[in-house]
Amino acid sequence: MDGKKYSVVIAGGGSTFTPGFVLDLIKSQDKFPMRQLKFYDNDAERQKKIGEAVKIIMKERAPQIKFSYTTDPKEAFTDVDFVMGSIRVGKYHMRSLDEKIPLKYGVNGQETTGPGGMAYGLRSIPAILQIIDWMQEYSPNAWMINYSNTIAIVAEACRRLRPGAKVINICDMPIDDMDRMAAICGLNSWHDIDFNYYGLNHFGWWKEVRNKKTGEDLMPKLKEYVKDHGYWVGGDYDKDTEASWEATFKKVADDYKMDPETLPNNYMQYYYFPQYEVASADPKHTRTDEIREHRQKIVFGECERIVKAGTAKDNIWDISGLHSEYIVDIIHAIAYNTHEKFLANCENNGAIANMDPDSIVEVPALFGADGIQPMATGKAGRFQRGLMMEQQTCEKLVVDAYVEHSYQKMLQAFALNKTVPDASVAKKILDDMIPVNAPYWPELK
Ligand code: NAD
Ligand code: LMR
Repeated sequence: MDGKKYSVVIAGGGSTFTPGFVLDLIKSQDKFPMRQLKFYDNDAERQKKIGEAVKIIMKERAPQIKFSYTTDPKEAFTDVDFVMGSIRVGKYHMRSLDEKIPLKYGVNGQETTGPGGMAYGLRSIPAILQIIDWMQEYSPNAWMINYSNTIAIVAEACRRLRPGAKVINICDMPIDDMDRMAAICGLNSWHDIDFNYYGLNHFGWWKEVRNKKTGEDLMPKLKEYVKDHGYWVGGDYDKDTEASWEATFKKVADDYKMDPETLPNNYMQYYYFPQYEVASADPKHTRTDEIREHRQKIVFGECERIVKAGTAKDNIWDISGLHSEYIVDIIHAIAYNTHEKFLANCENNGAIANMDPDSIVEVPALFGADGIQPMATGKAGRFQRGLMMEQQTCEKLVVDAYVEHSYQKMLQAFALNKTVPDASVAKKILDDMIPVNAPYWPELK
């Protein structure tokens, strides 16, 4: 280590994931020493609730790191080495509509898949591009690690509209799945697993899963388990898992049967079984309501408790979350040029041999000081390639709609999507979404 101490800004300081991330950063000070931590958000009130609790956490546990939070972009993005992108444009109010509008027409209503995912992607594009521009203006050497959804669409917008920008778009879902695989095989965590994986974001397959230390092929053991139980581990491992996630991980058993050669990302169920998803959804109580009653309530309740008590002793984040731990691993790899292997959403350029070079794909990549070096994963199966071609075309059409302000392109994106049965249904959903998205979307003509 060269003794350098880093400065980090979290864009989306009011995010429910922020406190967990801060605690993981603090725990990692021997491996990633920091001199400054800042939050940026465009909702001052929401950010303040998290910011005031984090102030206490920082004072007690890392007084050497200067901490502040702001809604001023210049203050936020000046003098930083890393920008963490964790924004949700339109917040839970808009996510709720992304879920409920499609369900009204018998179509899957989900955060990042189907029409809801495309609507969310279109909202995120201008906000993420703006953050990139601020980063480039105020801290041109900084890297942005973005995990604001809809990642596949945001990554395509970055590729086309900010080529060369120092932005890496990542997702923790495969990490969650791999952690489950590790538990199924009796290993400690996803760190003990080596893998070959390919696909798009929330749309991919493992070709290989091995014990990192011994090289043992874990696929036979995993297939035997997954065909009956999906990625559901149960017991202590799943004691805090919410009901909708339990159903999601169990459903992987059916996803797996669509291609017993590979293991699927758990999000494949929204494309393989959209009718099942609609039938098992409650259009009046979707995942957003569950988060409001669970994660959001817990996070903001805990922040309030810390502020009132004036101490962060025994807080709920002392046991680390996977999501934040993964992000700390990634910034460490870039800061110290370790060339560790993680998954990235990036331009294909041959990483999947039989996909277009300009596709955005999710593949293993080596992370270092110059960013990422995507790895060759071989050829996609015929079934997978067909699915990916359709899905990535939808993602490209959403970016076309953004660039051209095109109603037609957005309609095509919805109509092409595997979750939407009919172009007339696509039109009804889009027409309902346009007025509610008016504050965020370009005017579609
Ligand atoms: P959240 O709603 O709790 O927090 C998001 C914050 O972003 C809010 O405080 C909001 O005010 C702020 N925000 C919205 N628009 C903004 C803008 N233009 N500029 C600055 N701040 C803005 O959301 P969350 O549930 O904590 O999720 C945060 C993000 O992380 C979402 O995009 C979510 O989809 C994503 N996520 C990604 C992964 C992954 O691995 N890719 C995993 C989990 C969550
Ligand atoms: C959720 O918890 O449903 C979402 O925020 C999905 C995610 O990305 O974790």
